[in-house]
Formats: sequence, structure tokens, C-alpha cells
Amino acid sequence: MAFLFTILSGLLLLAVPIDAQVYMGEERSSYAFTWVQPLNTTILGQYGHSEPVYPSPRTTGSGEWAEAYEKARNFVTELTLAEKSDMVTGAPGPCVGNIYAIPRLNFSGLCLQDGPVSLRVADYVSVFPSGVTVAASWDKAVMYERNLAMGREFRAKGAHVALAPSVGPMGRCVYSGRNWEGFSPDPYLSGVAMELGIKGLQDAGVQAVAKHLIANEQEIQRNPLYYSNGTVQFEAISSNVDDRTLHELYLWPFANAVHAGVSSVMCSYQRLNGSYACQNSKLLNGLLKDELGFQGYVVSDWYALHAGVDAAEAGMDMDMPGTSRYNRTVVPELGRMSSFFGGNITTGVRNGSLEETRLDDMVTRIMTPYFYLHQDEAYPMVDASSIFLNTFYNQSSWLRDWNITQDTSVRDVRENHAQIIRRHAAESTVLLKNNNALPLNAPRYIGIFGNDAGEGQNGPLNRFGSPDSLEYGTYAVGGGSGAARLTDLVTPQEAIKARASQDGTVVESWLNNPLIAESDVASLWSYQGPDVCLVFLKSWAREVIDRETLQLDWNGTQVVKSVASACNNTIVITHSAGVNVLPFADHPNVTAILLAHYPGQESGNSITDVLYGAVNPSGRLPYTIAYDEADYNAPIVTDIQTTGVDDWQSWFDERLEIDYRYFDAHNIPVRYEFGYGLSYTTFAMFDIMLESTQQLGSISRFPVEEPVAPGGNPELWQTLYNVRVDVTNTGRVRGSAVPQLYLSFPDSTPLGTPPRQLRGFEKVELAPGERRTVAFALIRRDISYWDVVSQEWAIPSGEFVVSAGFSSRDLVVSTNMTPIASTSV
Ligand code: BGC
Repeated sequence: MAFLFTILSGLLLLAVPIDAQVYMGEERSSYAFTWVQPLNTTILGQYGHSEPVYPSPRTTGSGEWAEAYEKARNFVTELTLAEKSDMVTGAPGPCVGNIYAIPRLNFSGLCLQDGPVSLRVADYVSVFPSGVTVAASWDKAVMYERNLAMGREFRAKGAHVALAPSVGPMGRCVYSGRNWEGFSPDPYLSGVAMELGIKGLQDAGVQAVAKHLIANEQEIQRNPLYYSNGTVQFEAISSNVDDRTLHELYLWPFANAVHAGVSSVMCSYQRLNGSYACQNSKLLNGLLKDELGFQGYVVSDWYALHAGVDAAEAGMDMDMPGTSRYNRTVVPELGRMSSFFGGNITTGVRNGSLEETRLDDMVTRIMTPYFYLHQDEAYPMVDASSIFLNTFYNQSSWLRDWNITQDTSVRDVRENHAQIIRRHAAESTVLLKNNNALPLNAPRYIGIFGNDAGEGQNGPLNRFGSPDSLEYGTYAVGGGSGAARLTDLVTPQEAIKARASQDGTVVESWLNNPLIAESDVASLWSYQGPDVCLVFLKSWAREVIDRETLQLDWNGTQVVKSVASACNNTIVITHSAGVNVLPFADHPNVTAILLAHYPGQESGNSITDVLYGAVNPSGRLPYTIAYDEADYNAPIVTDIQTTGVDDWQSWFDERLEIDYRYFDAHNIPVRYEFGYGLSYTTFAMFDIMLESTQQLGSISRFPVEEPVAPGGNPELWQTLYNVRVDVTNTGRVRGSAVPQLYLSFPDSTPLGTPPRQLRGFEKVELAPGERRTVAFALIRRDISYWDVVSQEWAIPSGEFVVSAGFSSRDLVVSTNMTPIASTSV
């Protein structure tokens, strides 16, 4: 059935019900939009429509999971139908998400905890640098070590599942409230960070969850809005993404996650191409489980489920938190029980609406990673402190069901992680400008300026995600479920003072307001004024809301102007969620700029190490800093009329052109480009060499069909070329270079291909004068585009340009490669 729905911008849209099988229980149809008048669709592919893909593929235990899979299957045979339904449904408990234990089978239950920087609802845990910070390290060791250490803490606190890492949002839009939880708008950089982060967590014995699948690129209207009678006023926003863009940008890092053996994937709140992500069969059955060969379980984002049997058939495996948003038992006005799963799954199987084999597959998928990571063997009990810290559920509703010893001893799991965090955040700090101002050399008098330098005034900042930007106090982490309780926070002010006292330096501090109010700033200070002025500024972001501006908070730009008006050695340091425009960057008195993003608990120590040169900065921008806010494309939403129930739409019609891909495609000058960052030393690059691992002429356009393994067709992950460049340290101090590899695809690639795409990076530490060879491996996926016609990754014919350099706009050496000659197609 299809009917004429609306006329929009001169283009006809069709609305067709998809995923609309009617079952007993909660049926729901989603309406998807299809362009009738094609927008050059043969070249670019249609979008806005999500086709049905059924049945849900069953796990086979492929990859490294064969043994664990057998154990999981045996486990399932022991379960009653009710137990199986419990296993796929969250329940009240000590953690943010809980699956009941089955003591009869020695199953401890599952404890799922947030989030990407720390175990959020806990005491005596460490707070690590956030995703964007780690992306700025461009350091693979940092990406792994951070999550290995974090995973050890989750495990020691008894959490089986870490709701991390996040790559949705990836960063399509600079304003998205959760970009800082993830890594970078570049899918390659994000993909590497995902893969290593997942390995880190899982090597510590904790299940990782790649979230949020997919295109959760805006916070606004992420959930449906209901009238008080329970009917829907507005459906959640629909991210409408074409097939090629989905594969080459947003699904790309999830493919890395699956390839790394991620235990679970969390589906996102909003709709994808008209159908809720958590019941979108094309996404879950088609892309994730079939194409990518995902063997683990799909967990819903919290309350993201809007159907029971429909969602299970579409590929959902676990409903979280399993209790209703409105009420923990029955919701009279909605006439439904607390969860779309739970008892409804039991009923569905009994009355024949849901195949029991699907339910068995759901439980098998949940139990395989549990056995794979040996969580059945002496896993620590959930820490008793969770009983008191967890405010999600009333204790009386769960305490008797959980085997928790209520001792009063504190389980401090921080080990030596403060040192790791300090080093990681310092190595992730990006130096954008340096007119010989840094490193500091025993200054006589330091002025510290700005609200971001010191302590908050109302206890620890961001305890559980403060709702708003707070005027005073440094930002070490953002807000929402990705926030963290800062058991220990070292502020820049205290760390600088401690370091400065070694040189007998005078240190004085000022907050934003007096600086803005005072026209003669020099009248505020003693002696002849500071010989160095450190201005600490910040920018807040959190879950649920998107950022409204790219300016620094609390009049940050004005503070820089005021200080720089009186101090000719003004150094700006920001703690920010991501992109800020920096209108003061060319001011002659602004002598250095450092971006530290959200560095975690050792913030002050990390930045002091960089300021004084104990650590030579080696961070690079994981995104582009434009001259002006208006220079960015990809708005949060594109088409809102808010009169109809389906009106919230976000058309990703910039397609592949996000971040540097857009600026490069349109030759737009930028202030600091993707991949840019300075060091206290300098580097040079020479001699690019390229060699194929295959015999001449033997590379095929499409990968040979092979049984799908986690990550998709294994052929896609095969190295086809190795590239080498030489890098040398031409300066006078030890430092780390970040050589980067970019590909320009041949002209035969379909329209819309970005001019350059990152396909390799390494961080290499060099002593002065040292020269080293750096190698990059190009796998089949790296040199392919997603061909919407054949539904395959295809290597285009013709010549690629392979360039290496120190940023996306500082390409130093280049060569060519022709995997497939133009004539052979
Ligand atoms: C967030 C998830 C988080 C979950 C549990 C949701 O609101 O989107 O990222 O893991 O809550 O706290």
C-alpha cells in the first residue's frame, strides 16, 4: 500500500508502511519516505526509505567465538520459556541495566554500566579522557591502554558490560551534544579508535557495547513525544541517510567494532530512514547481522524500544532498562506492562506470534560473549556501593534478588590509572599556535585567567552530568550518561601553582567577570604585570541537548580580548566538547593556543606537563576549525514543520561531505585543518614507497565472495598495498610526529567522492635528528567505495593519488597506484 503523502519542496514523497507485520502484542508500523522524483538517484542512491529485511539472521559462533557459542547453546537448552524472556529483558537492580541471575544454572546475571570515560554510577573509580580527547592523540597505544585500564575498573566493580565506546554521533554536525563522547567525524580515525577501544575493554574481561547504531547525529527530538493519553504527538526525528553515505561514513566504524569482536551493539533512539533504529530490520538484520556478520546481541538504548515482537523480529535482542519510563509496573493509560519484552515475549511465543528459535537466538547471542570472556568464572560481585549510588530503581524492588554483600568497605579500583590518564591527556593536547611562547621557562610571574582554571563551587563538577554549563570550575568531562563522578580532580590552577613554586614564580588568578568589566585590565595586577598570561576557557556539551554555539562559554572570547589588550604573552587553553571558532587566533598578543578537550581527572597535571615542556605536545585536530560558524554545513535538522506526527526529519543531504571532506570539496579556507597540530620540535618527511601485496593485474573490482565473518566479507580486511614514508625530527628536542596517509580516488569513482580521505596514521616518537620509516597498510575496504548498484564494495578503475603529510592540507609526498587499469572494466 502506498499513498500520496505530501508535497515538499516541489518533490513528491511517498509514505509506505514498512516493518509493519502485525503480531499479537504491540504492533506498530513505521512510515518511510521515498523520493518519487529522483534527485540524480542513479548516481547517488535513493534514501529516506528503509526496506524490510527478514528473517533475523541466526548467530553461528563464527570468528573466535565457536567454543563460547557451544556453551551458550547448551545453556539455552536448560532454560524455561519464562527464563528466556527474562534473559532478554532488563530488570531493576544495582546497575544502570540488569539481567536477572539464574542461580540454578550458576548464571550470575548481568550488570551493565555507563559509560565511555568511567564507570559513571560508582565511587573510587578513575575518570579518563573523553573520546574526542583520545581521538586528538592520534595514538593507537593510547586508544588501547585507556580502555584496558578502564575495563579493569569495570570488572573490579563487578560490571560485566561497559556501555562504551560511542561512535554515534560520529560528528556530522558540529553542534551535536554528544560528539565529545565519540571520536571524530572521520570514519577511519573513529574506526581505529573503536577497534582498539573495544579490544582494550574486552582484554580486561568486560563486554564492550558499540553505541549508538546509527546516525544518532543530533540530540534534538531523539525520542517520540507523547500526549498525556499515551498517543504519539511527534515521532522521534528521522535521520535520512543514503546507502553509500551510510556505508562509507556512519557504518564504517561499526564495521571496525564488529571486526574487533564487540560483544554488543546499542541501537539508537531516533529513526533511520523513517523506521525506529531499534526495530529497523534493514539496519539490524540486514546491515549489522547479515552484511557485517555480527555475532553478539543488540541492546536497546534506554527506553528506545517501541514495539515487542516486531522489534524482536527486526533483530533486537535485549530490551533496556526493561522497566517503563512512566511506571515500573503497569501503565494504565497505555494499557501495557512495564516492558515491550518480558512477559510479552512469553505470550508471543505461546500464541505463535514469535518463533521460539528467534528467542533462542537472542539468548544465545547474549550468552556467547559472556562465556567468551569467561565471565562465568569467578567474576567479581557487583560492588555494594552501587546499592546506595544507584538511584534508578527503588531498592525494595530488587535488593532481595541480587546477591550483593552489603559490606561497608570501599572497593577502590583506581590502581595507578592516574598516571596513565595524566600521560594520555597530555599526549592528546593540541598545540595550534606557538610564537615561541611555549614551553615555559621559569617565568617570574604567571597570571591565570578564566573560570575554567579552578575548582567548581558546588562540589565536584559533573557528578552525574550536571544539567547546564556551570559558571565556575574546570571542565574535565561533559554531561549526561557519558559523565562521571570526579572522585579526584586536579585543576589547572593547583597543578600550575605546584609546578611554579619550584621556580619561585609568583602566581595570581582572575575569573572572567572582572576581566570583562574592567576596561584597564593592567590595573588589576601587581608588579609590572605577568610575563605570561594563561587564559583558561571552556565549552560545555551534554546528552539530550545540542550545542547552540561554537563560541567559548561565559564570554570566553571577550576574556581573551581583555587579557590580550594588556598582556603581550597571552596563551589560550580550552577545555571543550569539540569545535570552537577561535576569532582571537590572529591577535598578535595571543602567542599560543592549546586545546585540551575534556581531559579527565588529571586535567591540571596534564596541561602543566605540556606548558612546561615535560611532555612535548603531539595531539592533532580530529576535526576542522573553520573561520566562522557559518562555514560549517550539515545542520542539526533540515526540515521541521512540527505540525504532523512525522515532521521531524534530518536529511543528510550533504552525503559524504562532512568536516574536511566538505571544506576540501569546495575549496573553503579554514583556520586549522583536520589533522593539524604543532610540536616543540619540527619534522620533515621524505620518500614515499608503495608496494602491492598482490601480483600485477590480479586485483579484482569486487571482493571474492567468502563466508561472512565478524566485520563482513573477510576479503575486505585484506592488505592490498603497503605504503612507507620516512620521517625525521629536524628540531632540537625529542617529540612525536603524526604522519598521515590520504587517498584521492580515481575519476571513475561515482560523483560525490571527497577529494581526499584519511586512510592511515601513525604516531612516531623521534629524538632530534632521528629518521624512521613509517608503514601504512591499505586494506581492500580502504581503496573501495560502496557501489549502490551491486551492493558491494568496489575498487574503482584508474589511478589513485596516495599522499602522506602532516595534516589534511599539508601533504608532503605523494605517489600513484592503479589497482585496476581503466581499460579492464
Ligand atoms: C544513553 C546511553 C546510555 C543509557 C544508559 C541513554 O540515555 O543514550 O548512551 O548508555 O542512557 O544510561
